[in-house]
Amino acid sequence: MQRATRWTQWVMVAMFAAAGACASMGSSAAQGGGTADGVKLYKRLGGYDALAAVTDDFLGRLFANPVTSPYFKGLEPWQKNRVRQLIVDQLCEASGGPCLYIGRPMQLAHEQLQMDEKVWNAFAGDFVATLTKFKVPDREQRELLEIVGSMKNDVLRGSH
Ligand code: HEM
Repeated sequence: MQRATRWTQWVMVAMFAAAGACASMGSSAAQGGGTADGVKLYKRLGGYDALAAVTDDFLGRLFANPVTSPYFKGLEPWQKNRVRQLIVDQLCEASGGPCLYIGRPMQLAHEQLQMDEKVWNAFAGDFVATLTKFKVPDREQRELLEIVGSMKNDVLRGSH
């Protein structure tokens, strides 16, 4: 329970305080991945397969969550797969891995969706639930939340 409370705080701190720090993924300060003892976040997370497994679990939650699932309703299976692959690439690149994100900028990809704070919070809760399930250590969770939090303004931009 104490752990859950602490993570709620991290979500608040990392995802809200970091919001607005960067205009787009391309200019993210987190790009390249933080290092700890010279080891990139990508490596510390377990590399590509670990990131892909995290993405699959997390997207599964978003597709099932009543708050977030309506946004994906109109997507064909191939479109969901495409978004999935782009997110893997994006996380891989942002954490310092050997990937290249070739998708649209975050604002462009989400402005039609008109998402609000409530949707963001549901999204953030699912993301943390996945990281907890995969037993991602505290430090790496914080770094990932910082990366994701830096995109919040762009993801929600169309709705403000
Ligand atoms: C930091 C948070 C987020 C990241 C990093 C992210 C990442 C992405 C990426 C990489 C794409 C594909 C871009 C492209 O088509 O070129 C995408 C598309 C999409 N995202 Fe997100 N996303 C985030 C938050 C959300 C949230 C909270 C929702 C809704 C609950 C959402 C729903 C969608 C949908 C429906 C698409 C498909 C849009 C389309 O094809 O027109 N995203 N996202």
